[in-house]
Amino acid sequence: MKKFIIGSNGQIGTELRLLLEKRFGYEQVLAADIVRNDEADKRFVLLDATDSDALRAVFERYRIDDVYLMAAILSARAEQMPRKAWHVNMSILHNLLELGREGLFHKLFWPSSIAVFGPHTPKENTPQFTVMDPDTVYGISKLAGERWMEYYYEKYGLDVRSVRYPGIISWKTRPGGGTTDYAVEMFHYALRREPYTCYIAPDERLPMMYIDDAIDATVRLMDAPAAGINIRSSYNLAAVSFTPRELEAAIRRYVPDFQVDYVPDFRQDIARTWPDSIDDSTARRDWQWEHRYDLDAMVRAMLTGLQKNLYPEAELSF
Ligand code: SER
Repeated sequence: MKKFIIGSNGQIGTELRLLLEKRFGYEQVLAADIVRNDEADKRFVLLDATDSDALRAVFERYRIDDVYLMAAILSARAEQMPRKAWHVNMSILHNLLELGREGLFHKLFWPSSIAVFGPHTPKENTPQFTVMDPDTVYGISKLAGERWMEYYYEKYGLDVRSVRYPGIISWKTRPGGGTTDYAVEMFHYALRREPYTCYIAPDERLPMMYIDDAIDATVRLMDAPAAGINIRSSYNLAAVSFTPRELEAAIRRYVPDFQVDYVPDFRQDIARTWPDSIDDSTARRDWQWEHRYDLDAMVRAMLTGLQKNLYPEAELSF
């Protein structure tokens, strides 16, 4: 019975795959993406999951237990291609929900996002249940997806599980097309000793999370007994919140000459509508969620991870 990751080359899919392989064994994890990174990868299928026949064929060939749908077009990129983003973000989920209803797998993990909130959502400690009026294509697709997840649980008893990820900070792969990606870029510039021009306003606070916490949350939610899961749309999930200026200062503790200037663009208009901080007490209660990385721990993990793997010449003052 395999774990199946769709979007296995992405920012989260890559690290989720490593963890699931470690935990369940290499043979138990099947990975899929629309591009192949490694010709020799035997546990990988090249797949356009928007193609429902191609997707079904994978389920007919392998016995799959849990599915992790990590493929999506993120917020900033989706604004450049609204119809395509809607199609990609919705059709894969729909295809999977139908396969699940037919009994071709047991559990589905699909991430939602802080992008489901909008300009009229309370910004501080945003509650689990509140006004949701997203005004980005990405946010609209995530909110619609949440409703479909709950619908398939209520009508068909499909075991669906979801969290609303904040901005995810990682170094093993580069994120692409998100609004929160400035935070990852800042680390790369700092280590290259280059000044960074930030497209988000200096005081725009956003909820963020280090990748290890994001993967841990995903695995904990999937491990939790079904009876304890009270939210089948998507759980609020939080770790830290910071502004670009606070991140700049936190990096400068280790890279003292790091320089940032601020030229906000259309991505600031997206960020402005998202929460400053999230109330995730329901996740903490229902499946004992707790984060481990605060801002400083995240900064140290990012700087040391990137230095070791990408920028061996960089000097850090620890
Ligand atoms: N990090 C995502 C983005 O910025 C939000 O889910 O698009």
